[in-house]
Amino acid sequence: MKKMRISVIGIGYVGLCTAVGFASKGYNVIASTHDAKKAAKINKGIPPFYEPNLQKLLEETIHDNHLRCLISQTEKAVLETDLTFNAVGTPSRPDGSIDLQFIEASTRDIGKGLNKKSAYHLVVIKSTVVPGTTQDIVRPILEKESKKKCGLDFGLCMNPEFLRQGSAFEDTLHADRVVIGEYDRKSGDTLENVYKDFYGKKAPPIIRTSTSTAELIKYASNSMLATKISFINTIANICEKIPGADVKVVATAMGLDKRIGPLFLNAGLGYGGSCFPKDVKALIAYSRNLGYRLELLESVESINETQPLKAVQFCRELLGTLKGKNIALLGLAFKADTNDMREARVIPIINQLLKEGANVTAYDPVAIPNAKTILKNKIQYATSAVGCLKNADCCILVTEWEEFKKLKPEDFTENMKQPMLIDGRRIYNPEEFSQKMKFTAIGLGH
Ligand code: UGA
Repeated sequence: MKKMRISVIGIGYVGLCTAVGFASKGYNVIASTHDAKKAAKINKGIPPFYEPNLQKLLEETIHDNHLRCLISQTEKAVLETDLTFNAVGTPSRPDGSIDLQFIEASTRDIGKGLNKKSAYHLVVIKSTVVPGTTQDIVRPILEKESKKKCGLDFGLCMNPEFLRQGSAFEDTLHADRVVIGEYDRKSGDTLENVYKDFYGKKAPPIIRTSTSTAELIKYASNSMLATKISFINTIANICEKIPGADVKVVATAMGLDKRIGPLFLNAGLGYGGSCFPKDVKALIAYSRNLGYRLELLESVESINETQPLKAVQFCRELLGTLKGKNIALLGLAFKADTNDMREARVIPIINQLLKEGANVTAYDPVAIPNAKTILKNKIQYATSAVGCLKNADCCILVTEWEEFKKLKPEDFTENMKQPMLIDGRRIYNPEEFSQKMKFTAIGLGH
């Protein structure tokens, strides 16, 4: 079967990983973005953000001419391909609802491209959008601009993305499921065939459904994972009040129950990133507009707001006043294996530490350049983990990088002014560390 030619509009995280994923499987992919600097980097094989394996795959696909990136040429991208993934961003508005301006603008451009085309073309929404968007907003714009009929002259699907930053290609190549929300049967058949070709014999289960159900599956999945995290953080908070209790053991034992499962039960300083905070807020706002108050997710969100401040509370308990104290932060990124600082839990921690008069020094293996654009010179930046610990009164482990897991108690005792460690992600063995220094951790009974 001849491979479909693919275009991808919007080259953020989802867009670029989709483009590189398909190009790495031998598809000819054209990406289009309004960001000329990003396009130039991509065309040179340089990833615009950090993601394990991205550099190598991007270099290979650019070198093999399977991928090229255009600047603001959506119409051309549509004209020269058979299927377009729309993966532009859907940022939050101040009330938590999603801003559709980029979806609307890119859809108009796709529609203009369709207008100039005679062959059948499939449009696939990959961006995270609330139920009804594909059918009630995207479809009318496409029909108006193309002067063609959806389901007849062109196809339309909603195909949510479930990949995680830091393991994007692993997730793409070994997806748990593919969800295809289809406007009509032909659209769904066309996309299903693309995925069957992409995965070959190892194709994951493919769920075919309406576009609205597909849209809701994405929000429901991210909200469920966020709920698991806030749930285990609540159990961590109880553990801290019970001498000898340990949330890690609670989570391990709970996770062995097949109905619960072990994943996303790591207690810590809360969830960050560009997805969970935004998606939970959007589902709350969407539901509110339907006249239904999502109290469960409101709690998930408020638990996540207070959770990072636990680190500062622990600091206060160990040090008394924070005024003039040197606090070392290990990790800035919202999670390991990314340089993304969006909604990173370290930001409220830093703001509170500074408010209470502390001096903050931080180290992260890859996120410092991004952190500097947000935090400027409000804090100091170290060039190594051990350098960050030098002369510190207290250290907070914020992000669970592999590099930090290798630190030994001596790294803290030999470099800090007074060795005190707060394990915000439960990566250290409490028995080993508490023998050598003052040690506190999320979810550990005092
Ligand atoms: C998340 C989902 O996991 C993906 O399936 C989804 O495709 C993506 O959002 C998206 O909507 O685009 P991501 O934000 O990359 O992926 O990162 P996660 O690994 O899910 O972690 C999110 C946050 O939760 C991080 O801050 C992490 O530290 C925190 N987390 C995760 C915990 O605190 N505990 C856990 O057990 C797991």
